[in-house]
Amino acid sequence: MAATWLRNAVFYEIYPQSFYDTNDDGIGDINGITEKLDYIKGLGCNALWINPCFDSPFKDAGYDVRDYKKVAPRYGTNDDLVRLFETAHKKDMHVLLDLVPGHTSEEHPWFRESQKAERNEYSDRYIWTDFCFRAAGDLPYVGGESERGATYVLNFFKCQPALNYGFLNVTEPWQLPMNHPSAIATREAVKDVMRFWLEKGCDGFRVDMASSLVKHDDEKKSGTSAIWRDVRRMLDCEFPEAAMIAEWGDPPLALRAGYDMDFALNHVGNGYSTLVRDYENHKDEDHSYFKKDAGGNINRFLDQYMAWYEDTKDKGYISLITCNHDTIRPRYNLDESELRLFYAFLFTMPGVPFLYYGDEIGMRYQELPTKEGGYYRTGSRTPMQWNKGKNLGFSSADPESLYLPTDPSDDAPDVASQEKDEGSLLNTVKKLLALRREEQDLQSDAELKIICSEPGYPLVYRRGNLTVALNPLGKTVSLKKELSAKDKLFETGSTSYENGSLTLGPQSFAVFR
Ligand code: NOJ
Repeated sequence: MAATWLRNAVFYEIYPQSFYDTNDDGIGDINGITEKLDYIKGLGCNALWINPCFDSPFKDAGYDVRDYKKVAPRYGTNDDLVRLFETAHKKDMHVLLDLVPGHTSEEHPWFRESQKAERNEYSDRYIWTDFCFRAAGDLPYVGGESERGATYVLNFFKCQPALNYGFLNVTEPWQLPMNHPSAIATREAVKDVMRFWLEKGCDGFRVDMASSLVKHDDEKKSGTSAIWRDVRRMLDCEFPEAAMIAEWGDPPLALRAGYDMDFALNHVGNGYSTLVRDYENHKDEDHSYFKKDAGGNINRFLDQYMAWYEDTKDKGYISLITCNHDTIRPRYNLDESELRLFYAFLFTMPGVPFLYYGDEIGMRYQELPTKEGGYYRTGSRTPMQWNKGKNLGFSSADPESLYLPTDPSDDAPDVASQEKDEGSLLNTVKKLLALRREEQDLQSDAELKIICSEPGYPLVYRRGNLTVALNPLGKTVSLKKELSAKDKLFETGSTSYENGSLTLGPQSFAVFR
């Protein structure tokens, strides 16, 4: 059973570099997050996911961890992080850290030891072949970097050697089976990291590349899943309210592997990507469902989602995201009115939703040169826009020394202005999340049933005893059907239900009881 606090959780994802700088060095910090907890809570989010904030050479923005147990000095100290946990808990909020179990930085002391010619405790902590000129089969590898006469396997970038959890089926002399003591030692080392932060008060982890652990795994990821089930057993015994969300993108597998939640990820062409990023090359070719009159069809999302949902609803949660640090912001191709409907949908669906910092004000994607291995992702990682002041309120450092430049446009959206404007996107998000908080039937567990998803008609679904109706088109649509929809609890645009007829004006949304 999933951690009970997830039943009404709404997450806010924070890229710590860019959220709020309290020591004027141009980069966000842990104390900045603590200072802004009231803002996040006021928005209606009661949980955080913080991207990796650990010591790192930052060749992949911190997903190249050099010390799992130390907060990167540029963000503050371990004590700052503990204070963040404590302050959050006092406000009835929860904090997930980002666990990177598939690889470390090439500068991690484990890897430095592993590179040595002489055998030691860490020789098998990573996946090494047995010869300096041996390719690692179909796995990406590096040679020529170590005194050890062998090549090693990578998990992502060149700076991220793969940790060794063994192979499901060993086919080469240099591969270890999953039950080899060294493979088990890797798994125990990760548990040790988890315990370290859980004991300090963190509430669980978002797990990076969760499906990547065991190499040459089968289609069902049996090897990797066995490891996560083992981790789950540890959590169930020692930290029963700890939560784990997978970066896996396959909820039936991830939830069976012991995860509480898995993301519906924005992989090109999959169901989720057809909601708001249905463009492969250019946004002019966009057929996203929430792009007004772009010819989208919600069934391309629902076909995948409903199959997942039916299969997993008693096992845990599917998490829909506004965006994340790897994804182009939805404001890139959607205008404010389109975003409103997207958020209305996202926050009235089952499971545990995630809002990426800045999406609540419609922050724009910026075309920028790469930073810390971000490449195109860099444009979604710019400083949070708090007000119209210096650096848009993010930092009082010189603009040249900011981690990334702020949105240079005159009409860059900001929190302070939108707070004052009743009809702003920010206030819409607040109202939607307030409604979700008040209505248990809009939270994680209440049953979802699709009533109508035919193109050209309103999208209508039931959540428990509530009826949700939505029209992303630029024209009025209607549906003749007996619905249980007496009282209107929420509305954007113009909507009505009378005499068995539901009418939704252009780009409208309503929740009825
Ligand atoms: C997924 C993370 O979200 C991404 O930012 C990172 O670059 C890779 N995993 C590698 O850790």
